[in-house]
Formats: sequence, structure tokens, C-alpha cells
Amino acid sequence: MCGIVGYVGNREAYPILINGLKRLEYRGYDSAGIALLNGNINLYKTKGKVSELENFVKQKNISGHIGIAHTRWATHGEPNNVNAHPHFSESEDLALIHNGIIENYDVLKEELQKAGYHFRSNTDTEVLVQLIEYICKQEKVELVTAIQLALSQVVGAYAIVVISKNHPDQLIAARKGSPLVVGIGKDEFFLASDASPIVEFTRDVVYVEEEEIAILKLGEKLQIKTIKNQEKTPFVQQLEMDLSTLEKGGYKHFMLKEIFEQPKSIRDSIRGRVNVDMDTISMAGIIDFEQRFLQAGRIIFLAAGTSWHASLVGEYLFEELARIPVEVEYASEFRYRNPIINETDVVIAVSQSGETADTLAAIRLAKQKGALIYSICNVVGSSIAREADAGSYTHAGPEIGVASTKAFTSQVTVLALMALYLGRRKGIIPANRFNELLIELNNIPQKVEETLKLNEHVLEVSKIFTYARNFLYLGRGYNFPVALEGALKLKEISYIHAEGYPAAEMKHGPIALIDKKMPVVVITPTSSIYDKVVSNIQEIKARKGKVIAVVSKGDTTVSKLADYTFEIPETDEIFSPLLAVIPLQLLSYYIADMRDCEIDQPRNLAKSVTVE
Ligand code: G6P
Repeated sequence: MCGIVGYVGNREAYPILINGLKRLEYRGYDSAGIALLNGNINLYKTKGKVSELENFVKQKNISGHIGIAHTRWATHGEPNNVNAHPHFSESEDLALIHNGIIENYDVLKEELQKAGYHFRSNTDTEVLVQLIEYICKQEKVELVTAIQLALSQVVGAYAIVVISKNHPDQLIAARKGSPLVVGIGKDEFFLASDASPIVEFTRDVVYVEEEEIAILKLGEKLQIKTIKNQEKTPFVQQLEMDLSTLEKGGYKHFMLKEIFEQPKSIRDSIRGRVNVDMDTISMAGIIDFEQRFLQAGRIIFLAAGTSWHASLVGEYLFEELARIPVEVEYASEFRYRNPIINETDVVIAVSQSGETADTLAAIRLAKQKGALIYSICNVVGSSIAREADAGSYTHAGPEIGVASTKAFTSQVTVLALMALYLGRRKGIIPANRFNELLIELNNIPQKVEETLKLNEHVLEVSKIFTYARNFLYLGRGYNFPVALEGALKLKEISYIHAEGYPAAEMKHGPIALIDKKMPVVVITPTSSIYDKVVSNIQEIKARKGKVIAVVSKGDTTVSKLADYTFEIPETDEIFSPLLAVIPLQLLSYYIADMRDCEIDQPRNLAKSVTVE
């Protein structure tokens, strides 16, 4: 996590860097800092959010045409002023920002201390800037060479940017494991963890690859080399990003905006892929590897957080529609348990950011063992998307709120498309059922729009439960993952303890928690197991639990039993998660808002988890 930005050019760097940090604040908000080169390096940093840095630098000298800035999600060293980035070298000639973890920092630190270097912070990062200076002086080499030598001693992950008092016209950056994008303007360069701070200045970008170093020198072309000093030709790509998706557009929070964007984001996930008249689905990535998919012995989903919940829906979809055995794994567990993988396995990595460190490491492991790697990512050009053999983007557009909403529904949409495609190709889904399902999937965006009309009603119900201390979420079949996702949303942004459970499993434990104070959200739209869930609701009511039910329009049975109901449009069971999750997103949003929580930046969380 951590967000990094850099600028070198003819404009004042400060406004570009500060606005860039605000766009990247989703990556961490424990502290923020900036270093501007103007003769000397002026370095300002403070605990807290970017707005606190803005207050802190008032009345200070913030001029300069070159600078770097950082917003931190703390790993080594508590979030305070001293541990905030940028970090100075011993002489204060160099300043550096870093996203990642230097695992062998303690050994390096000890050596540097023996050589007379003093450390001001408890961070792993400071070691790196000191090491670079030490190598420069000891080996009498140029800065770029010193950075290359330093990085070859480092174990861990990094995206770094360095400025030097002695090179007032250049930024040097490098990456391994953490993302880095260079923006190329006219006589200026930009650098950032993702393209959002860059897009309003230039659409020409270069994604820095693993173990590459980028030299951004005014008056010269962008130069890329490997850490081992091999020259590379920069591959310039055109950014496609709508600037309005980076603004709140009148909504109080990004999360609410993103919830309301779902009719569009789901439509964008379907766009160009479904042709109802021709009865076809076309997905370039899957078509190229069709035989591998059709002959797959197993599909393994690798993901984290909300993407893991979407993958669970994927399990139900792929097993039912395409009859391929599926396993859904937390990438963080998978990578450390010596998993059995073979060449007939297809691994599908699901990730909004495409940068989650565990998911990235897990696909590398699976790739080594011969599995086909397919990615479902939202961020175009992200590491996971680039390392996969093939993939499909979700096209949900930038998601800024830390709690994922539209990314989830787009992931489920893409998974449904893939399962439908494979099921049809394998001859498992009959032609008429396939056509029915395509028509229904095409109708989903409009049904999401209808579902969003629940907004006012959900707000009213949220008022009743604002001060609940625990919540239980129950669902079965396709809506079991929705129960998990509903509980996660509430935990993440309102800090209320919530548990998601398969409805029938409730009897094996959570039922002991139910009393008249316990709100239980039951997700039970029309489905093949509706009656079973009705019995589960009876069990809750018998123990005086408060039931909030998500049901299909026109439901009479559950509506009579439940204390509150959210009615969603009727749809095929396989698509019901796309509608059922909407009132749960709104419920968590309004409860968190009434509790005055920092909705878009919940405490301790970050949107893109680029450390293990
Ligand atoms: C973090 C975010 C979650 C997200 C998870 C996986 O924990 O806060 O919202 O679901 O990472 O992220 P990914 O980008 O891989 O989907």
C-alpha cells in the first residue's frame, strides 16, 4: 500500500503532488509527506491525512519544479511524523519515498550504523536511502548505479522514487512488486502508484516493469533500464480513464457514488460481450484459451477480501453451469501451504486493484507449476493482469472508496459470463436456457436501477440499527457469499462486529448468540432452497432475533415473518447476488454514516494491499 507521486517539469510541483496524493489516499492515510527541490530539499511530513499535510505546509516554502510525495499505510514503525516519508539520507542530499517492505532492513541498518550512519526513524525505508548514499560515496559511482547496486542487495518489495540535490532536473524511480506508472508530458514527467494523479496532464504512460529503473530527466527522453543495467525500450500506452470517475460528483462519499454507479458499471462489464440476438458471448481472453478451459481438471480461484467473495459466487456459477470442479482459495493461504497444482489446472485470479501482493505471489507460484493463469482485474495494466496468461477486465471504472462495491458486482458479472460461455461450449446449458439467461443478464443493469430505489427505505431501517453491537448475516447457495460480503461491508466501514454464515450452519454455533438485541440479515430471494431458509428464519424468530430480510418482490411468506424487508426484483437465482448485495451495501453505508465513520477511508484499511 502507500501511494507515491513524483513530478519534474516547468510547473510548480506542489499542487500536482498534493492533488496526486489525494487521489492515492485510498492506498493509505496514516501519514503524508512531500519533498520539494529548490536549491535545497525542503521536506515536510506529518502524521494523519493529506489534508493535515496541507495545513502543516501553510506559510512554508513550497516552491520548486521537482518533488516527490507520499501517503503512508504503516508497516515498519508506528504512524507518526518521524516515520512518515519522504526520508532523507545522512547528508540530506537525497530524499526517497517507498511503497513496499524491505525485509532485510535490519542487517543493512546494522552495517550502515557501523559505518557511522544515523537513523532518525524506525522504518525499513530509511535504510534504503542511506544505503544509496553510502554506495555513492564508498564506490564513487553515479546515483543511478548506486541505486542499482543498493536494490540488488535488498530483499523485499518496492516502488521507490529518489530526488537528489545534486541532480536538480531528474527523478529516479524503480519497482519490484509494487506498482509504478510514468506519465510523459511535454517537457515534464509524472510518476505515481497508479494513473489517477497523472490522467489530467497526459494520457501517454509507461508502466514500469519488475526490477526496472526509470530515469526521468528534463530535456531528455524517458530512460528505462533493468536493475542489472540492461537498456529497455519504454512501451508507451494511451490511458483510457474518465476524469469524472475520480470525483465525487455531488455524492457525500465515493462509496455512495460507486453504489449508485452499478447499473452503469455492470452494463460496462457486459458491453460488447453479449449478443442476445445472435445468442452469443464473446470474451477474447477466454476464446484464445478455450481448449485449456474446456479440458480443465479443476479451476482454482485465488483472491482476497471482497474479490474472494465474488470468487465464491464464481464457484457456484462454474460448477452449476459449466460442471468444472472449483476450489476457492485465499491467496495468502494458498501460497504458503505447498499446494498441489498441475498442468490441467486453470487458476483464475480475481482482484479489483490487480496489485494485491498475496494474489500476485500466488499466481506466480501456480504459473511455475504449469497452471494456466487467467486474471479478472479492474485496474487496466495492473501487475496481476500483466502477469497472467490471459484475462478479462471488469471495466467497472476506478473504485476509490476503500470498501469495494461496484467492483464486486462487476466481478460477479464477468464470472457469470465466463461460466455461461463455457457451459454452452460444453453443451451443458441447453440453447433455450442459454438464451433465457443471456436476456436476463442483459436486464440486470435495469433491475439494479430498480433495486437502488430501496435507498430511502434502507436509510430508515439503518436508523433503527445504528447502535447495534453485533450483526449476523445469513444466506444459502448463491447468496451465502452475499451474506459474507454484507457482513464484511458493515465491519469495514461502521466497525460493528458482523459475521456472515451459511444459513443452515447457524444451528451449529451462531444461534447461541441470538436474542432480542441481535439483528439478523437474511438474504432469501426466490431460489431452489427458499423453503429451507424460511425454516431458518423461523428458528431465529423463535429466539426473538430481529430479522431484516432481503426477498424477491411479491414475497409473502418471509415478509410476514421478518421485522423489516427489502424487496428486490425477481431474477434468475444465479444472478440474484447482483441484486441482493445492493441493499446490504446501502445498509452498511447508512449505518456507518450515522455513526460518523470515515466511510471512504476506514481506519487501518487500505484499498490496495501491496504488502503481505
Ligand atoms: C483490501 C481492500 C478490499 C479488497 C481486498 C482485495 O483489503 O480493502 O476492499 O477486497 O483488499 O483487493 P483486490 O484489489 O485484490 O480485489
